[in-house]
Amino acid sequence: MAEAAIGVRIAGLGKSLGENILTNEDLERMVDTSDEWIRTRTGIGTRHIAARQTATSDLALRAARQALDHARLAPSDLDLIIVATVTPDMAFPSVACLLQAELAAGHAAAFDLSAACSGFLYSLDVGARFIQSGRYQHVLVVGAETLSRITDYSDRRTCVLFGDGAGAAVLEPAPAGKGMLSSVLGADGNGRDLMYLPAGGSRRPASMETVQTGLHYIKMNGNEVFKYAVRIMGDVTTQALSGAGLGVADVDLFIPHQANYRIIDATARRLGLPPEKVFVNIERYGNMSAATIPIALREAEEEGRLRDGAIVVLAAFGGGLTWAASVWRW
Ligand code: UT7
Repeated sequence: MAEAAIGVRIAGLGKSLGENILTNEDLERMVDTSDEWIRTRTGIGTRHIAARQTATSDLALRAARQALDHARLAPSDLDLIIVATVTPDMAFPSVACLLQAELAAGHAAAFDLSAACSGFLYSLDVGARFIQSGRYQHVLVVGAETLSRITDYSDRRTCVLFGDGAGAAVLEPAPAGKGMLSSVLGADGNGRDLMYLPAGGSRRPASMETVQTGLHYIKMNGNEVFKYAVRIMGDVTTQALSGAGLGVADVDLFIPHQANYRIIDATARRLGLPPEKVFVNIERYGNMSAATIPIALREAEEEGRLRDGAIVVLAAFGGGLTWAASVWRW
């Protein structure tokens, strides 16, 4: 979708990570796997795991404070807080409400958004619309997850993949032509069984039986997700670029969802993007769902890769199925 007259930019970025590190060698002692298999099939070396007492809102709070500092704003400046997560502290209240209280962001409205790994990009789009409509000035968008809490550490097909972290961005108005140039969202609920958490909701409330049969852990058809991811990541990126009137050659930095290095590599090849234009940090963190892209953005900023005027493209896919991409002029 082409953008309106009011631009929306990211004024500040923050990140936080689970306190403990889980290595491939640790996983070798837990399940029948190897460092070699994990590295060659996924590109992952380590992942951060939240300490026992740390919940999603704690990670979100640390990232949010850093993003506000970076934007030189106070919590009282916020009009809206959106948290993208599939691992909230509890079903309700939302993580966004917990965060609003911890930040003392008195007058901000607050809600969570559920779009799995695409959640941060969905939230950026929603936050940007509130600013473009003239309703709000400053929107805090957070992607925060503690996937370790829903990971089965006896299932080698999933437990090697996931980590815990949070990333945050503060949105504010910008001159037209700066900031978000286009954004595309998509979903296909027919793929709902490819990645899901079977129990703990209204369909299958928690019971002795659901706990004993491991239904509170992520279930995933890795092969099918892989195929869909490679196709959709290329398609949604092309759509977002065309919505901004740009082509692949205009891209300075591509920040894809970090789920598997082979998916990132295949997507970049399909698009014709050289490796130096593709941001990759999966080796250190694994897949942190909605938190991967804001954390990558913060690290790209720290590395000086978000220079003024650069064309930056964000793209994600996830459970739902969902997908999204947005194009930014920094
Ligand atoms: O945010 C979105 C979240 N999800 C994803 O993005 C997942 C996308 N999918 C993937 O990343 C990949 O499909 C996986 C990394 C999950 C799996 O890689 P793969 O190359 O598709 O492996 P596979 O599932 O085809 O399994 C190949 C073999 C199987 O053994 P057999 O049946 O051929 O004997 C698996 O049992 O590898 C085995 N295997 C493992 N071996 C060692 C599966 N997991 C492991 C493991 N260590 N951790």
